[in-house]
Parts: sequence; C-alpha cells; structure tokens
Amino acid sequence: MRAVVIRGHRMNAQMLEKDMDLTTGSANKNPFKYGYFNSVCSDQGEAEFAAIRVMTCGLSSQKFGKIINYAVKCMDPRNIYCEIGTFTGYTLLCAALHNSRQCLGIDNFSSTFYSPETAKNVRARVHANLGHFSFPNVSFVEEDYKKVALDGDRIGVFLVDAEHTREECFNCLEWGHRYLAPYAIVFVDDISACGVYGGVEDWMALHPSEVRELFKVHVHYPQTGDIDDDELGRQRANPVSYNGFCILEFTRKK
Ligand SMILES: C[S@@+](CC[C@H](N)C(=O)[O-])C[C@H]1O[C@@H](n2cnc3c(N)ncnc32)[C@H](O)[C@@H]1O
Repeated sequence: MRAVVIRGHRMNAQMLEKDMDLTTGSANKNPFKYGYFNSVCSDQGEAEFAAIRVMTCGLSSQKFGKIINYAVKCMDPRNIYCEIGTFTGYTLLCAALHNSRQCLGIDNFSSTFYSPETAKNVRARVHANLGHFSFPNVSFVEEDYKKVALDGDRIGVFLVDAEHTREECFNCLEWGHRYLAPYAIVFVDDISACGVYGGVEDWMALHPSEVRELFKVHVHYPQTGDIDDDELGRQRANPVSYNGFCILEFTRKK
C-alpha cells in the first residue's frame, strides 16, 4: 500500500480566505449543485478547455473539463480533487486551472488498450504536460489506485475515468467511498461505454441513502469498424461528450 500525503504544501490562510469567496463550505448551499446545469447547457468558457484538450491530447470533452473545473472551484478548500485515470493529464489540469485547490491524479498506465510502447508514450506525455503547465496545486501518483491510501485528505470532487468495465467502475467508486468528504461531487466519465454505467448503478444501489444522481448524458456512437476515420474524428471532437458522463452527489450518512 502506498500512502499519499498531498498536503505538504498546505494553503496559507490568505489563499483559503480568497477561495472561501467561491464556496459556502456548507453541504446545503454548495453552489455547484445549483449552478452546474447552466454550465452544462452553455458553451461559454469552453474555449480554454478545448485548447488544453488539444495541447495535452486529452480524451474527455471540453465541456466535461469546464464542469469539473467549476466543481473544484465550488469545493470546500479543505478538501481535495482526486481522479483515477489521468492518462496524459487533461482532466487533472482542467481541475486545477485558475484555483488553489489541491488536485491529485492517479494512473498506472495499465489500460488493457495499451501496448508497452503506448504506456511508455503516455507516461512521458503526462509528465511533459504537467511540467509544461507547472500548476503548484497538482500532484500525480503513478500507481494502481487499489494500492493508494490517502493519508488524512478528504475528497470533495472525485472523478472515475479508469478501466471501462462495470466491475472496475464500481471498484473505483468503492475505493473512493472511504475518502469522500461529508459532502462530495462525483463524476464518472464514459458511462455509455462497456457497461460502465452498470457500475454506477451498482454503487448507487449499495449506498442508496448517500448517493443521488444529479445529471447524466448518454452518448452512443457507432463502433470504430462501422464508420470511416473522418466520421470518427468528428465524433471524437464532440464538444459535449464522447461517451457520456454522469454527476453524482454524495452526502455521508455514517
Ligand atoms: C480513459 S483514460 C483517462 C482519460 C483522462 N481522464 C482524460 O480525460 O484525458 C483511462 C486511464 O485509466 C488508467 N487506469 C486503468 N486502470 C487503472 C488502475 N487500476 N489504476 C490507475 N489507473 C488506471 C489507464 O492507464 C488510462 O490511462
């Protein structure tokens, strides 16, 4: 088990005060809950995230990056953003952009789609991308999430974007459960792919009094073999979502 402490560079009081302007720190008044739908329905502010997506070779959409960023800005600054599945760093950088919240990415470059050569290239690319942006509030751990233990930190915004199966989606959510703050926002990407949403349903069924779905969008695209490369390219450039996503609200009961 690898213990991870990312609070080495704790925020100073001044930063905390500044960040507090964006959040009430109260579960009932979390501004994300009341503002996210505007963000979903408008493309305002997405250009920056579209540019980062291109620069980093990210896999998620510009809208998804923008909404994650909004959730992190609304988060109680005592908590952290954590993601499983960082790939080349796009979603991690989106989370950390223009704020001082601590953001942690976890990836072991183990996707079943990766050849050893691809894993090597993705690893090099994430380090290059994180180095290029140099955000002081970003930490990255190369490890299987199952071997990572957070030491004292509570997750206020959690993104699950690792292996796309029902079982692994559920396992990631359950790994996160013990670290979630009393109130947290949980994102799951690619819910339309390979039974991922089944994992979300299994997790909601296990914690019915704690988890509520705020939003979901399914996007079903044809498989690669059914369409030509131009069409696939256009679909991958979809600004809303490539394979769907959902947003869950977590309120700890015990
Ligand atoms: C779809 S990609 C993430 C995309 C990224 N969030 C983005 O938007 O650009 C999935 C990543 O999950 C990682 N992954 C799969 N299983 C994992 C595990 N057990 N622990 C950590 N990372 C894992 C893979 O190595 C892969 O890089």
